[in-house]
Amino acid sequence: MKKLLVTGAAGFIGTNFVNYWRERKPKDIIVALDSLTYAGNAINLGHLRHDPTFAFIEGDIRDQQLVTDLLNNYQIDTIVHFAAESHVDRSITGPDTFLETNITGTHSLLKAAKKVWLDSNDRLGHHHFHHVSTDEVYGSLTDDGAPFCETTPYAPNSPYAASKAASDHLVRAYNQTFGLKTTTSNCSNNYGPFQFPEKLLPLCILNILLGKSIPVYGDGQQIRDWLFVDDHNTAIDLVLSSGRHSETYNVGGNNEMRNLDVVKLLCSLLDSQFDSDETLKQRYPHSPCAQNNGAASLISFVQDRPGHDVRYAVDASKIKSTLKFVPSETFATGLKKTIDWYINNRSWWENIKNGSYRKKRSDM
Ligand SMILES: NC(=O)c1ccc[n+]([C@@H]2O[C@H](COP(=O)([O-])OP(=O)(O)OC[C@H]3O[C@@H](n4cnc5c(N)ncnc54)[C@H](O)[C@@H]3O)[C@@H](O)[C@H]2O)c1
Repeated sequence: MKKLLVTGAAGFIGTNFVNYWRERKPKDIIVALDSLTYAGNAINLGHLRHDPTFAFIEGDIRDQQLVTDLLNNYQIDTIVHFAAESHVDRSITGPDTFLETNITGTHSLLKAAKKVWLDSNDRLGHHHFHHVSTDEVYGSLTDDGAPFCETTPYAPNSPYAASKAASDHLVRAYNQTFGLKTTTSNCSNNYGPFQFPEKLLPLCILNILLGKSIPVYGDGQQIRDWLFVDDHNTAIDLVLSSGRHSETYNVGGNNEMRNLDVVKLLCSLLDSQFDSDETLKQRYPHSPCAQNNGAASLISFVQDRPGHDVRYAVDASKIKSTLKFVPSETFATGLKKTIDWYINNRSWWENIKNGSYRKKRSDM
């Protein structure tokens, strides 16, 4: 039985991870730590409020005393570290918070883990610190460049990617210098339920439902490798159960798509969904799909993001061969699940959009 501290648990991947873990390992203790920034929503975990093996703590990963107390009080043996500032656009307009949370925050967490697991009298032999990182640390690929593997040199281009790269190095250093048992996963773009509507896929889906224009950066030819969020969680699960300490694992869906093609695919999927379900026209009357105009009429090209990386692609052969990782969703099945979730969870995203969701722990 594990006792997990999950940081950033009220964000997109953190929420899905907690749900994934709760479903599969009901006896494990989960302590969810999240400072509830704009991207965190405690209501995501509200269904667990009466679960005796679950606790939600509103707090900051930079609060080392708080983290130390949590590690001690709950006898945590595993940290799964998702908490981060995660939106590249925001890192361009305001990089400081990214450095604060992603670098200083990760370091603070490492110091707390070292103090409790390595430096105390009852040193915990079987601890595990798993750091969740991104493929963006490797920079950008040309159209014919080989996908990123674990030995690809780091070349981050955005302040977000640079801050994640720095945090990866700190995790490595705490392993190499102090013997903290760490692993790191560098994953490609995730999509799925609970993703904050500033990111490409939910933004497109909601704008199609609401009849708002779909902004596509530049010519939309940037390539990303898409992975359904629970496949990422499966990969983390495998690393936690069988990964080798000090190793890093690249995780991807082997599913490269140009942004414009992703947007067009979403448009055609939503067109078909409105065709096959008449009730959607009443529920979302402002959507062009309700007026048989075709969602693609909403596509609007906007000025490109500065320093926009051209292509990301992940070589996931290491985790596939050593840990038997196999993604279970295709892009088609994962997108269907994602679209259905946003269609059927309108109050979740409306509350975010109008800023009225209650985010405090007491409101869970
Ligand atoms: N979304 C992706 O496509 C993707 C891909 C690869 C890796 N990742 C990594 O996965 C992790 C989670 O990403 P996400 O998309 O769920 O992000 P997110 O922005 O949806 O969630 C981040 C969560 O961290 C919390 N948080 C932020 N600062 C905090 C702090 N100082 N203390 C405590 N909590 C804090 C936020 O409140 C939020 O709930 C990040 O580390 C990100 O770099 C994301």
